[in-house]
Amino acid sequence: MQGAIANGIEGILGECGGSCACATCHCYVDESRLPELAAPSQTELDMLEHVAAERRPNSRLACQLKSTARLDGLILHLPATQE
Ligand code: FES
Repeated sequence: MQGAIANGIEGILGECGGSCACATCHCYVDESRLPELAAPSQTELDMLEHVAAERRPNSRLACQLKSTARLDGLILHLPATQE
């Protein structure tokens, strides 16, 4: 989320600043790489109940994804709306 905001990526709002309290950083993770990500916390799962667009099995909150070299090339798709 921070990387997207800092680089002017449209379609991601991050209204709560990354505290897992708004669900406006909803994204869809490339399914082939889902196993590489840490499992979502219960707080993230709870917030995913409130996303504006369709929730899918590969839905995550971008602010909860830690960017590491291991995830280089990870593709995230953004939903049509965050509000
Ligand atoms: S920025 Fe608010 S939940 Fe991710």
